[in-house]
Amino acid sequence: MTPGVKPLVAGNWKMNGLRASLGVLEEMAAGYNSVMQARLDMLVCLPHTLLALAAESGSEAVKIGGQDCHTGESGAHTGDISAAMIRDTGATAVIVGHSERRTDHGESSQTVKQKAEAGLEAGLMTIVCIGETQGEREAGETLAVLENQLSGSMPDDPKADSVVVAYEPVWAIGTGLVPSSDDVADAHKFMRDWLTNRFGNEGEAMRLLYGGSVKPSNAGELVAVPNVDGALVGGASLKAEDFLGICAAYNNLT
Ligand code: PGA
Repeated sequence: MTPGVKPLVAGNWKMNGLRASLGVLEEMAAGYNSVMQARLDMLVCLPHTLLALAAESGSEAVKIGGQDCHTGESGAHTGDISAAMIRDTGATAVIVGHSERRTDHGESSQTVKQKAEAGLEAGLMTIVCIGETQGEREAGETLAVLENQLSGSMPDDPKADSVVVAYEPVWAIGTGLVPSSDDVADAHKFMRDWLTNRFGNEGEAMRLLYGGSVKPSNAGELVAVPNVDGALVGGASLKAEDFLGICAAYNNLT
């Protein structure tokens, strides 16, 4: 944890969830009581099809976000969604540069930066994801990859209250594998130093999330790692009980 920073626990439903799944959000809202609200921010990033419904019918306390946006405001881009459209649903955040976007859709860091700028322009809190593959880790290139992705993907003038960086080792996503606390600490210290060096106070106060197989059973250990200011949670955000179990680790700490 970074002193003075309010943690953020963000869920990412990926391509999961129909209207019938919105009850899970109600359960999350019910568990996110006023004590928890004072101690941590809760966000759930939903498929675009559910954003308006969730933002209109959900609890104001549980923030709603999208999982990707186009770089442009509008235009001839069949099937794409702009940041302004996400904002128009009532959602207040967006993830950009998730490794599944980088891999499945060939998104470069340059594209991710443009998406981050688009998200900020539309008034969305923007979560920029970075992380190394297994091969890069084994080759000892983790920090070089993080540096490359940070310098390519970060918007030019980020503010700590509207930009979040998520470190997600690709090999830890959906696999049940988690780096050691020391490895997470090294990556987050490297990110903090880089961001502070580049963006000064804003970089120093920016929230840095860890993502990749976060579960209630390992959240307590991750919470204690310096410069880990929350979690980006995939699979375990699909069940209210698991997601609230992860939030509880942050709730107990502060
Ligand atoms: P996971 O996904 O928690 O299912 O590993 C994390 C993510 O992709 O954000």
